[in-house]
Amino acid sequence: MIPLPIDIHYKKGEFHLNSNTSVYSTSNLQKIVKYFLELIKGSNGYELKEVDSTNNSNSINFILDDSLKNLKDEGYILEVFKETIFIKALSEKGIFYGIQTLRQLLSDKLGREKNSKEKIQTIPCLRIEDYPRFKWRGFMLDVSRHFHDIDTIKHVLDLLALMKMNIFHWHLTDDQGWRIEIKKYPKLIDVGSKRKDTKIKTWWSKKYRGKPHQGFYTQDEIREIVSYAQDRFITVIPEIEMPGHCRAAIAAYPELSCQKKQTDVSIKPGIFKDIFCVGQEETFRFLEYILSEIIELFPSEIIHIGGDEVPLKRWKSCINCKSRMQSEKTKNAKELRKYFTKRIVDYLNSQDKRAIGWNEILYEGIDKGVIAQWWLRKKDKILNHIYNGGNIVLSHLFHVYLDYNYIVTPLQKTYSFEPIPKNLDEKHHEKILGIEAPLWSEWVPNRERLEWQIFPRLAAVAEIGWTLKENKNYKTFIQRLKQFNKKLDDFGVNYAHMKEVNPSRIYRIFNLKKALKWPQI
Ligand code: ACM
Ligand code: ZN
Repeated sequence: MIPLPIDIHYKKGEFHLNSNTSVYSTSNLQKIVKYFLELIKGSNGYELKEVDSTNNSNSINFILDDSLKNLKDEGYILEVFKETIFIKALSEKGIFYGIQTLRQLLSDKLGREKNSKEKIQTIPCLRIEDYPRFKWRGFMLDVSRHFHDIDTIKHVLDLLALMKMNIFHWHLTDDQGWRIEIKKYPKLIDVGSKRKDTKIKTWWSKKYRGKPHQGFYTQDEIREIVSYAQDRFITVIPEIEMPGHCRAAIAAYPELSCQKKQTDVSIKPGIFKDIFCVGQEETFRFLEYILSEIIELFPSEIIHIGGDEVPLKRWKSCINCKSRMQSEKTKNAKELRKYFTKRIVDYLNSQDKRAIGWNEILYEGIDKGVIAQWWLRKKDKILNHIYNGGNIVLSHLFHVYLDYNYIVTPLQKTYSFEPIPKNLDEKHHEKILGIEAPLWSEWVPNRERLEWQIFPRLAAVAEIGWTLKENKNYKTFIQRLKQFNKKLDDFGVNYAHMKEVNPSRIYRIFNLKKALKWPQI
């Protein structure tokens, strides 16, 4: 099982799930029961009957129980006896996670095997008591550098649910493409969602694929994904990048940049100087309006405002930005950066939302409700934010960035990552919300490549997020991974194989150059 539950006791005997197995649930669990019946239908090829009393022989019982407060709102108890299975929890979410554990004890493929008539699944008798270590167990997908369609997004959400992950951070905008329909600003799609070409091979290569790339999600598709995720207890956190990484938006609306020059949606990766002009009110009207549509579409309390890698060069020479510096009595462009962040954070707060941003957004005195996503350096600022009462999500570049290949970031290195910074006083540990693994997609043009990059490392991340530190064990993880990979086979996932995920040190050193050349399709 991945992630490893807190406490497992195997017992004698087995439960046999077959077409006569019935399902009972306490009230308010209709949606989850429907989800479970569909899972079983998909795997076994038959529908289980619902019954209205508990404890029947050959039955699976879902029980909400107010007394299970020690399991908090995501924990569950799974008990498998010879005649009955019980999943008990304080909340629907707990029941859902109990089902995910049960699911890892079942085969999803059974129903697809043609010649077994009475498809029986055998589950060992056991008792599992379980709850997560962290409340933030996330995955980020960049759909700007390469667009991934909604079928792929749903597939990813199914896989996150299987691993009890609960945050899908959707990186929707960047220099290489704007991917979400905004009704008031149609050019974001008409212009911003298309680029003429794409650099391939390496960061420094001069080779291009030789064909255009485009794609976006309509607002209806966004709603469909949000609801699909909600059914799996996953919060979708949209990211709108600002004030940098916005070339696609500026290609659509050049008047929002300092120089107001027409640019194109970028065909190569990197960091670009043209960013939103902070001197013009129109920039704030534009961004706030976009955020207002985002807030309508995404029920998440938390909205991601990007904020990484912002070159301040243009602001320093822009008349509007300079006049803003004067009127705001800021000393320099760096201070202007704080002004920008504060205005956006204040706007979100006025809409009862919380901002999250990459760690560069932090400054002395920032609103403590802002969540910082820590990906690189700036430990002092991170610690300061924690001491001031702020929250942190861990996305450490050299451990959980899934865009690196396995020579740069082997599985074992990812697994060994510990989200709580060393020497952080225990009273501050609760400020660490959890872990999130990003996948930047410059070199991820399709689903197959996406799956190879994320598996098995995302399974390691799921375990870091869920399993207690003292229960983590790399050796058993590798054994359990063999089982888990069978599950991934059921989903048709193109995961990286064991022989390639942990290259030796020597091999890594001699092949670093190769590691930086990304195979392209
Ligand atoms: C980042 O990787 N630029 C957050
Ligand atoms: Zn400007």
